[in-house]
Amino acid sequence: MLDGERGEGVRFAMEVVTRVGDIYGAEKLVQISSSHVLGHYSSLHDAGVEMMERFTGSKASFRVPTTVDPISIEPERWRDLKIQSSYAEKQMRLTNALMGLGVIPSFTCTPYECCNVPRHGEILAWSESSAVAYVNSIVGAKTNRLTAGLDVSCAITGLTPYFGLLIPENRFGQVLIEVKKRKLGNLDFHTIGYIIGKTVGNRIPVVTGLPLDAKNYQLKGLASAAASSGSVALFHAVGISPDARNVDQAFGPNELEDKIVIDESGIREAEDEITTSRENPDFVAIGCPHYSIPELIELTHMVKGKRVKRNVEFWVYTSKHVAAYIREMGVLQTIEASGIRVLTSTCAVISPIKEWGFKVMMTNSAKFANVIPSEHKIDVYYAPLKDLIEYATKGE
Ligand code: F3S
Repeated sequence: MLDGERGEGVRFAMEVVTRVGDIYGAEKLVQISSSHVLGHYSSLHDAGVEMMERFTGSKASFRVPTTVDPISIEPERWRDLKIQSSYAEKQMRLTNALMGLGVIPSFTCTPYECCNVPRHGEILAWSESSAVAYVNSIVGAKTNRLTAGLDVSCAITGLTPYFGLLIPENRFGQVLIEVKKRKLGNLDFHTIGYIIGKTVGNRIPVVTGLPLDAKNYQLKGLASAAASSGSVALFHAVGISPDARNVDQAFGPNELEDKIVIDESGIREAEDEITTSRENPDFVAIGCPHYSIPELIELTHMVKGKRVKRNVEFWVYTSKHVAAYIREMGVLQTIEASGIRVLTSTCAVISPIKEWGFKVMMTNSAKFANVIPSEHKIDVYYAPLKDLIEYATKGE
């Protein structure tokens, strides 16, 4: 591949993979089962469009099943969302180039729920921090947290450098997190993830005290928050994660570096810390990470018969395949009848929402709350879903 026998695109991809391997002291390259790549223009910019088009122009293609993260526009309704056509055109070029490489057009940050479902122990080359944290921790697959460019290069070569979290000895726990709150609500999982990320940085936490019947979407919320407030790419939820049947297994030969207790008061403090304003939110956004079918069904029950008031925009983000299912079920129609927009294939962080002039976003996602103020200069009010719905549908 490096000699260019398979074309310039493959040669360049292999050069990226081997150089990164050299930087991290990888002793070898290993085959991957799948890849998940970034494809939003807001992060990749013009350089990313050009790089992707160079790959496509040189007839390179993905050698493993490869899904793609959400993109910066809602493919069908971007005009309704105040997006400039010049911006949309750049995103469409990027999307077309990825399609030319053979990407699975998932446009979601939760590919593990639909069209790229890894198995325990499989080696992957994924980007998207929330998905990386989820598949490493809850599925027990192995991937480093890749950057844009490296993800695509691994997908084209079918190989990734063997370093970091691919090596079993690097996957043992370092910090013990004891959750001491009974009856965790959905928001608590996000908040606990936020606290963990802030506290451990990039060390590997071992979390006790989570309910063994925690829902996938609750663990998804925890993973996304920990990956966003810190750089957690792997955590062990004792009794839940496949490699953490108990604390000893999770720590393996490692010494305990630190122990942190998360209790009710710590969770309330973190909620206050995350919130930057409680002044009249004009934007309510949920679906970070992308909402799953159970979450949307729960939303339907909560909004049935209610109506979003005129001075508030209420958007829920999900994937287009989930939207297709809930449309067939009639769930989507109920949600839209309440005045909530169901947006697919994108999200508030990676799309240009400046034109709306929002001042305060109300959200139940710790990742949204963590990123939106710096990304879009919008304040955030962090609260549980029932509060969001009550605020958005009460009074005028
Ligand atoms: Fe997904 Fe966007 Fe959140 S990509 S994890 S909905 S910031």
